[in-house]
Amino acid sequence: MTEWQPATHISEPPNKPDYTSLEFPEPPEDRPYVVVNMVMSADGKAVIEGNEQGLGSKTDQRLMRELRVNADVVLNGASTLRVSGTSSRLGDETLEQLRIDRGKPRFPLAAVWSRSGDLPLDKIFFTARDFDAAVYLSAGASDATRERIEATGRPVYTLAPGADLLGMLGHMRQALGARVLLCEGGPTTTAQFFAAHVVDEYFTTIGPEIVAGRDTLTPVEGPVTFNRDGVRHLELVSLTHNQETSELYLRYRVRRHDQSP
Ligand SMILES: NC(=O)c1ccc[n+]([C@@H]2O[C@H](COP(=O)([O-])OP(=O)(O)OC[C@H]3O[C@@H](n4cnc5c(N)ncnc54)[C@H](OP(=O)(O)O)[C@@H]3O)[C@@H](O)[C@H]2O)c1
Repeated sequence: MTEWQPATHISEPPNKPDYTSLEFPEPPEDRPYVVVNMVMSADGKAVIEGNEQGLGSKTDQRLMRELRVNADVVLNGASTLRVSGTSSRLGDETLEQLRIDRGKPRFPLAAVWSRSGDLPLDKIFFTARDFDAAVYLSAGASDATRERIEATGRPVYTLAPGADLLGMLGHMRQALGARVLLCEGGPTTTAQFFAAHVVDEYFTTIGPEIVAGRDTLTPVEGPVTFNRDGVRHLELVSLTHNQETSELYLRYRVRRHDQSP
């Protein structure tokens, strides 16, 4: 009988999942497969002092970029663009090469939606030329506003009155050929996606902070509150604990609303 030997090396579990090569089902005909990604504190807050800085380690930011590898379009609400600036960059040539090897453009399309059209036209979303970007604008915005945005070289697509979200998703799928949409918030935007039952997967990082505050935004926040029958149900797909940062990385699948919990 072989005598038991103490292990000379105990391998640590990986501190992060690998989100570079996710397998998603076929998207429906009328919209892309929709993935939402948000970071929050341990008490469920999505902002500190008005933006997300201070939430999410470098590893979380890396995961955000790995998720982008899988996306055809990365969408933000206009407030996030105004507050934080947004792009679809990957920040790493290895990640870019993965997309190129898969026959995709180097970066996904960056998109923003806005009712007012009051957008910061000096931000890289409009000035950069290494990634493509587009604006989905409410029909109610003025012609002058639309022309100012178009003058940056970014296309402006008009949101269908009364069907803004579903119209936008239909346009992404059918006119742009998008198969995977990554929605990166903010909370007002994610809430509308959940309300419309168009979220397929929800990725979230829980950081080791308490932010507190009665009016501090959470990852999904809007005028709609789901009642007990309407609560959205999730199934945990994966969970990784980062022992260095004390973050948790969660991937959920959203149960279809015709599937009972
Ligand atoms: N923790 C995280 O992971 C995370 C991620 C992203 C953002 N954030 C934070 O969240 C905050 C911003 O979030 P937010 O919820 O206030 O705003 P948001 O979702 O980023 O943007 C809201 C804006 O999007 C436009 N919009 C919303 N619904 C629309 C519709 N149906 N049709 C057309 N346009 C529509 C409107 O733009 P107009 O006002 O131009 O009309 C609206 O004011 C920031 O503090 C940001 O730092 C946190």
